[in-house]
Amino acid sequence: MCGIVGYIGNRSASGVLLDGLKRLEYRGYDSSGLAVLCDGKLNLRRSVGKILNLRALLTEQPLKGGVGLGHTRWATHGVPSEQNAHPHTDCSKRFVVVHNGIIENYSILKHNLIKKGHRFESQTDTEVIAHLLEEAWGKKNFLEKEYLDAVRGALNQLEGAFALGILCVDFPELLVAARRDCPLVLGVGKNENFVASDIPALLHATKKVVYLEQNEVALVRPKSIECFNLDGYRVKKEVVTVRLNPLQAEKANYKHFMLKEIMEQNIAIQDTLRGRLFAEAGELRLNLDLRENFLKQIDRITLIACGTSYHAALVGRYYFEALAKIPVTVEIASEFRYRDTFLGKKDLAIYISQSGETADTLAALRKNKKMGVKNLAICNVLGSSLAREADTTFFTHCGPEIGVASTKAFTGQLTALLLLAIHVGMTRGALEGKEAKELLNQFLKLPAWIRQTCALSKKIKTLARRFIGKDHFLYLGRNLNYPIALEGALKLKEVSYIHAEGYPAGEMKHGPIALINREMPLVALVTESPVYDKICSNIEEAKARGGTVIAIATEGDKAIRKKVSDVLYVPKAPDIFSPMINVIPLQLFAYHVADLRGCDVDCPRNLAKSVTVE
Ligand code: AGP
Repeated sequence: MCGIVGYIGNRSASGVLLDGLKRLEYRGYDSSGLAVLCDGKLNLRRSVGKILNLRALLTEQPLKGGVGLGHTRWATHGVPSEQNAHPHTDCSKRFVVVHNGIIENYSILKHNLIKKGHRFESQTDTEVIAHLLEEAWGKKNFLEKEYLDAVRGALNQLEGAFALGILCVDFPELLVAARRDCPLVLGVGKNENFVASDIPALLHATKKVVYLEQNEVALVRPKSIECFNLDGYRVKKEVVTVRLNPLQAEKANYKHFMLKEIMEQNIAIQDTLRGRLFAEAGELRLNLDLRENFLKQIDRITLIACGTSYHAALVGRYYFEALAKIPVTVEIASEFRYRDTFLGKKDLAIYISQSGETADTLAALRKNKKMGVKNLAICNVLGSSLAREADTTFFTHCGPEIGVASTKAFTGQLTALLLLAIHVGMTRGALEGKEAKELLNQFLKLPAWIRQTCALSKKIKTLARRFIGKDHFLYLGRNLNYPIALEGALKLKEVSYIHAEGYPAGEMKHGPIALINREMPLVALVTESPVYDKICSNIEEAKARGGTVIAIATEGDKAIRKKVSDVLYVPKAPDIFSPMINVIPLQLFAYHVADLRGCDVDCPRNLAKSVTVE
């Protein structure tokens, strides 16, 4: 997730900005930059990589001036580079902009601006904002009192999410901030004021803040802050005193990044859908290099991944088979890379990886490239090796995942796979437009279902207390939820160090049922589905042998309560969305058991966030 810091006052802006950006490092980024206004000029310094590179640049080429904007970039459009690093300016270098979020209609805006003679320097969506402001200036060199109208005019053309900082050389005493769907907070100092995308960037300087709300713009001066809505009406704001320490603030007051990332999955899915899903029109715009005639002539899809991403691939198989009516193979990358395999030009290989740096997954891609296979990546990190080497990439916009145990990236991957399966199904004529439109409209409800399920956290913490002493767990699921049983077991294993196995419930009688006794709790995924009755029979078999069963069931299902010891109810939703919903109580259960056992939840022993070696 990008980071924004703005400053206006009588101190050296570059020092304050660097300090603020440093405090936002935890959000993850790939480049950074800042702009300082001095003697009627906007001076920029930008660099790829860590903040220390920017600091070194400023040591070599220092900047004077008491008003400036800083930014750490988490690339969404345009690879990490100095050119694409923020801030961005217009042709005349009159305006400078830093931005968090995604401008969904930037392509058409950029096209129209280029037609009017604007010259773009970057591949970013952000740069269009600077040129829109220049366009407004071109019509009428507005005075400071008209500046707000010009800013509102530009922002009202934007579709999508933004948190912005804007400077103009003509108004050196004024820093503009605005937000829609992305957080932005103003810091209130003594003869100095601040703008930041998150509280941690401000706490060293002030604990007095003003929260910008949806579609609001702020005019920030050294001694005043005025807020307006995008219709130009003044908005009265309250100054709030923040009681968080910096570390708490980095985790948005959650105890661990893992819990924060579990609880923000509705936002991660919303951001992954943004700009791609047009349910009204029953349309998907995935902007991938996947030609229609290629998709029509392939005779197989192969999904390749490791770990949690492999579990996403297993869910993906059900999606492509059901919606695109095409044969699917799922491969563990570390096995695939050493086996005799026979993919060719009539294959689409899809590589799933949060980091885009997993050695085995990369090796599988490189092996297939030699065979002329079409390679699509699903990845959460722009500029990663996998994204650079694949033919085309579907980026999940989940923001950086700091916790080693993958959570929001997993549901982001499932979202991507379902969108792709709908797209391939529609392209191959396997999925009727009417059914597709129904699915896309249901997709819009998914973030709310996810948010509702996350509310189980307190209840799950209470449940977890009863099981922290156990040494073994069995997770059971069928069909779409068999991979979720595997994922739930992996989550518990990797953060709490309790042994856990995921199993297809139908396999119980072929061996694992011998394990069942009072000491072997089971978690059964038994939400409404075509195999509901089958799972209920497996639960009865386990109960008959003294097993303690925790059920993940659909709200309103009273019958299941009599069959199990504990029920966690999730919202009623079409079965096709059950993997994204049902995994959440399993993530929360693993998190709370691990936390109650005193484990290092964000950095479990022996694990790395990205396995870049064999
Ligand atoms: C998931 O919780 C683990 N941290 C691990 O299994 C991970 O999913 C696996 O290493 C693959 O990583 P990737 O998605 O970055 O390729």
